[in-house]
Amino acid sequence: MTLRYALSPAVTGTAAPCIPQAKAWGATYAAGQQAAGPLLDLSQGVPGEPPHATVLDALSKVAGSHGAAKYGAILGEPDMRAALATQLRHQYQLNDGHLQAQDVGITTGCNMAFLILLMCLCPPNESSILLPLPSYFNHAMSLSLQSITPAYLPCDPAHNFFPSLEAARAILTTPSTKKPRAIVLVTPNNPTGSTYTPDVLAEWLALARQHNIPLVLDETYRDFASTGAPHELFKDPQWRESLITLGSFSKGYRIPGHRLGSITAHPDFLQQVATVADCMQICPPRAPQLALAPLLPSLTEDMVRYAAALRKRLTDFGAAVACVPGWRVLSSGGFYAYVEFPEAYTSEKGRKALAAALGKEMTRVGSGDVGQALATRCGVLTLPGCFFMPELDDPIWASVRGGDAMHEDRWIRFAVANVSDDTIAGLADRLRALNTVMGM
Ligand SMILES: Cc1ncc(COP(=O)(O)O)c(C=O)c1O
Repeated sequence: MTLRYALSPAVTGTAAPCIPQAKAWGATYAAGQQAAGPLLDLSQGVPGEPPHATVLDALSKVAGSHGAAKYGAILGEPDMRAALATQLRHQYQLNDGHLQAQDVGITTGCNMAFLILLMCLCPPNESSILLPLPSYFNHAMSLSLQSITPAYLPCDPAHNFFPSLEAARAILTTPSTKKPRAIVLVTPNNPTGSTYTPDVLAEWLALARQHNIPLVLDETYRDFASTGAPHELFKDPQWRESLITLGSFSKGYRIPGHRLGSITAHPDFLQQVATVADCMQICPPRAPQLALAPLLPSLTEDMVRYAAALRKRLTDFGAAVACVPGWRVLSSGGFYAYVEFPEAYTSEKGRKALAAALGKEMTRVGSGDVGQALATRCGVLTLPGCFFMPELDDPIWASVRGGDAMHEDRWIRFAVANVSDDTIAGLADRLRALNTVMGM
């Protein structure tokens, strides 16, 4: 079909959503003999467990009310903002002065918060954003849609995939036509699961402050960070001048379909957020806000339990992978483990075996091919590391200081939140089966 109208190059030049591509591999396996057993889907970072019963109950009551059907406040229900501020004070061990309701705004999910933020901070075509590599694909896509250049910070596979401060310093001190407008970090990270320590985050905030740009922390997975406060940055009385954090209700509260997220920032900045949010969302969904606001304090215990269950699952996952020759978990946390596949796969013998298994020509073995084989031959759906990086022949690599290690493309992301503990126990056999396919 021909479209009789033109499209924006910013949209046509942006990578298509990658989850459907992985799901298609799963569908190929499911439609076949399923020789390795039923399809195990570890591709998407989505909670498998339903929301707490009190949340479902409140949602069903509130959603049927006339009040929830009306427009609400642009930055969220006052009660919801107050409840989230209280929750954050509890989680980060803060007092009232550190963080208040006026410091938080509610958005239609964290992805929307990120897009709003870019629109507030970055004039298109002349801005760059420091972004860790590997990066959450929707961040890279949002930058592309806004004609913002990513200034990638390679994360070190040998050091828990922490982003390079050195690369950041070099970017920030090198003159560029694309002015850096913010440093974005994700902790606990998607895709690597790596969780940055309070000390490391303090260094990043100091760097951002030194260059008069904000440090933006995407803390979608903060409820899974481990015990204790995820960081100490809000305790700095000047945090509002240089820190912006983003949150999500999708993971900790397990309501991704209800689309609630948050921005925590200086109230003056939130006024600018309101201008963009008014056009994009008018108001965040009201029913989940009205349902959740009175319940937040009572849900902490359930969240702690859920976080502990996921930590245990990640530990079990690590033990399962450790039994399989050549496979190694390099980092894990939150919903994810980032796993290196065997080096033998990249040998000439491995390349030939994989090409034969996939029935296609291959000049090298990359994570995309391994992910495809894992899904279509062994029934395990994951997201390959290449989904979280530019194409290996993209000219942008020339600007990535220290990007050689990333170029190896040896990693696969496993999401553990959407599967049972039994599924994790069965994984080792599937990885062994892939080793057999690869002639190991
Ligand atoms: C790092 C990160 N940010 C944002 C999101 C999206 O969150 P939300 O559902 O609140 O839009 C995700 C979801 O996977 C994520 O991993």
